[in-house]
Amino acid sequence: MSNRKPIIAANWKMNQTPTEAKAFLEDFLPRFPEETAVDIVIAPSFLSMPMAAAQIVPSKSVALSAQNMSPEASGAFTGEVSAAMLKEVGTSYVILGHSERRSLFGEDDAIINAKVKAALANGFTPILCIGETLEEREGGKLEEVLKSQIQGSLADVSAEQMVNVVIAYEPVWAIGTGVTASPEQAQEAHAFVRGLLKETYNDDVAAATRIQYGGSAKPENAAELIALEDIDGFLVGGAALVSESFAAIVQAGIDQVS
Ligand code: 13P
Repeated sequence: MSNRKPIIAANWKMNQTPTEAKAFLEDFLPRFPEETAVDIVIAPSFLSMPMAAAQIVPSKSVALSAQNMSPEASGAFTGEVSAAMLKEVGTSYVILGHSERRSLFGEDDAIINAKVKAALANGFTPILCIGETLEEREGGKLEEVLKSQIQGSLADVSAEQMVNVVIAYEPVWAIGTGVTASPEQAQEAHAFVRGLLKETYNDDVAAATRIQYGGSAKPENAAELIALEDIDGFLVGGAALVSESFAAIVQAGIDQVS
């Protein structure tokens, strides 16, 4: 077993109004009142963040994440949210490069790279998402896609800065589909990504970087996946919208390390 601390994150996407976020957290936070053996992260929508922060930030056991961030510091960027705004509400993490941002909002590795660098410069931990489409996988392009996403999104990020980067491997075909990558598929991709980190950086970065799995992660498959050598947690969408089911996934992480 590795000594990487598991990290289990909820990506609420465009779900949970401020009122719904509050109700979720009132149920969820008392389940893990102390610091836990895993890092727990919740990423509400921007609008729900201040409400969520009021409960999350004093909780100690859970950290607050954004789902996106502008690479710009401030100015005429209608509809964007800056690092300073996120900092003020107590944000620790920022999800960047999610496949929905890539496919629906036209984000490429260059934009994602600018955001990763801005997040690091502002003291946030980016959760950098990568992953292939079904077409790419079936076309034998899995490794090529992961390599170009890792190298493009992390361009000019130093080995020292990698201490503060989390990677989420999210095969696009498994997101929101109910189809989870098999343990073999997930472990193989994670091991490949870890190999890329070794090639791009060094052994220490490869050994220390946490790589989450995302894509129909749920209570029923969490224990099996987190037991695998190179899987260090989850980035959870649908199953993180219900307190009880997200708590069960967190518990699978705790059980794995205890
Ligand atoms: P689902 O868990 O709903 O498949 O979503 C995964 C995801 O995209 C998390 O970022």
